[in-house]
Amino acid sequence: MTQERVKEVTDHFRRVFGSEPQRIVRAPGRVELLGNHTDYNEGFVLPAALDLDVMAAGSLRNDDLVSAYSANFDTLVEFPLSRIEKDLVNTWSNYVRGVLKFLGESGVRLQGVNMAISGNVPVGSGLSSSAAIEMAVGFLMQALVGFEMSGPDLALIGQRAENEFVGVSTGIMDQFVSRLGKKDHALFLDCRTLCYEHVPLETRSIKIVVCDTMKRRGLVDSEYDQRRAQCEEAVRLLSQWIPNVRALRDVSKGDFELYKDRLPEVIRKRAQHVIYENERVLKSREVLNAGDYESFARLLDECHESARDLYEVSCAELDTMVEICRQAPGAMCARLTGAGFGGCTVSLVRDEHVDAFVNAVKTGYAERTGVTPAIYVCTAEDGASIVQ
Ligand code: GLA
Repeated sequence: MTQERVKEVTDHFRRVFGSEPQRIVRAPGRVELLGNHTDYNEGFVLPAALDLDVMAAGSLRNDDLVSAYSANFDTLVEFPLSRIEKDLVNTWSNYVRGVLKFLGESGVRLQGVNMAISGNVPVGSGLSSSAAIEMAVGFLMQALVGFEMSGPDLALIGQRAENEFVGVSTGIMDQFVSRLGKKDHALFLDCRTLCYEHVPLETRSIKIVVCDTMKRRGLVDSEYDQRRAQCEEAVRLLSQWIPNVRALRDVSKGDFELYKDRLPEVIRKRAQHVIYENERVLKSREVLNAGDYESFARLLDECHESARDLYEVSCAELDTMVEICRQAPGAMCARLTGAGFGGCTVSLVRDEHVDAFVNAVKTGYAERTGVTPAIYVCTAEDGASIVQ
């Protein structure tokens, strides 16, 4: 599979630029297993990098021009490194532009580059195709130019590109795991300190199955920003009564229970989701380290209920998909994943039942909604790597 995709991106590069690429890298999409809307609350997350990824092939040029070809859009864009501006037509290129701009601003001496990018992370379904492009481009530049930059720092460059250049206010989870994920592991990340740890998640006997409701929503949506503002409001209120609260991450379950009745209802529900979700992520690290997949699956189920009822980021399509997935053969759990309001669910499914699970969910969801879902049977893979 990887070999085929390497060949494909190499062929695109040859055709567009008439030469061989010097380097090929890949960076994966991700699934959020736990840690729903906790990253921007300086809390904990537990995503995994997937076997869906973006491949980037590139060679340095002797000038200041960036020539970037997207195989997915069959489009070539060109711009000088000295003047990186937003592209309102080829919006995919803003991820490339943003990363190069902030790499430059961080003091890295860049050089012009020819690159071809080709990805199989579904766009707009919540598996972070954008973070995969950002990390593929950043890692490709690192491989070509040879500058020193730690994984967390490259992830921060990607997040800046997303926040300040593309203009979407996401947390650090997506870029971080795309850069630093590990095969057969989930990634436990403290989003305040950026300390991280790989926890075993063996994906031979258990598969990560992602089911796309096919309902699309852009993250630019105001709902995401509204949730962030509600969390900030919860912090403002709680910090009046609890010392040293800078983010919801600092509020313990005990303190929350003591003061929650003083909060307006909506604010209380948002804070409760985040505070208990942080607890679930901490617990998940323990149970996965002990190989207890049953308990892990229960935490994912609880996460969905909380995201639906307290954080209110689910929708009819996601709830229907979760219901169908939970009843399908081999299912251990199901929850919405990522920002919500559409996009995908994630389930853990016993390997021997995966085909039956996929069939049951395909037919079940089509019968209930009239829409055929896309289903991805995934394994946990390495973050960004050089493939050639
Ligand atoms: C999106 C964002 C992430 C995170 C999730 C919700 O995927 O990109 O940073 O906030 O939503 O957990």
